[in-house]
Amino acid sequence: MISAPASTLAPNVAPNVASNVAFTFAAIAAMLVAAPVLAADAKTAFVSRCGMCHQAGGEGLAGQFPKLAGRAAAIAQAPAGRRYMALVVLGGMAGRIEVEGAALNGVMPGMASLTDAEIAEVLSHVVTLGKPAKAAKPFKAAEIAAVRAGGKATMGDNKELRSQLIAEGVIK
Ligand code: HEC
Repeated sequence: MISAPASTLAPNVAPNVASNVAFTFAAIAAMLVAAPVLAADAKTAFVSRCGMCHQAGGEGLAGQFPKLAGRAAAIAQAPAGRRYMALVVLGGMAGRIEVEGAALNGVMPGMASLTDAEIAEVLSHVVTLGKPAKAAKPFKAAEIAAVRAGGKATMGDNKELRSQLIAEGVIK
């Protein structure tokens, strides 16, 4: 017997294959989107989102990535410092800064595609790093949403804001 001509099979088979493939891609895309939410905890989120630069414990890398451990909680005591931290994650920062007397000239990309809840989660973790002398309040998604709604700050804006906050004693 000669097998059925392709033309009789194709109309039935092709749409199924196509829809299965589409389903698989949709499922993978959904898993990727869900992954940060399913991250075991805030530490995992910090390590995967920020740790490649700031290092897993937020200890930083001299000359390249600022140390956050033991510093972030102090910045987050003041509302202006909290706003600055959210702005940096949303818009990034670039240019020469000084951290504990040592200069560094780096680029942090903005991560505005993270949700307010994801940013709140990582920043809440950041302020616990390095056994801070004074604990800072965790960040809430609504707090990040308010900063985001306030408008976009560029990398340069954030560096200027940093200098201003140093002058005001918010960042040491
Ligand atoms: C690609 C590397 C990179 C990644 C990823 C990154 N950062 Fe940064 N971050 C930097 C650099 C570099 C600076 C300093 C920029 C400069 O020199 O102007 C910085 C600055 C900061 C500052 C300001 C520190 C200060 O002393 O004023 C905070 C807060 C911060 N990052 C938090 C985060 C958080 C939270 C994440 C993850 C959501 C993150 N960063 C991801 C490289 C990175």
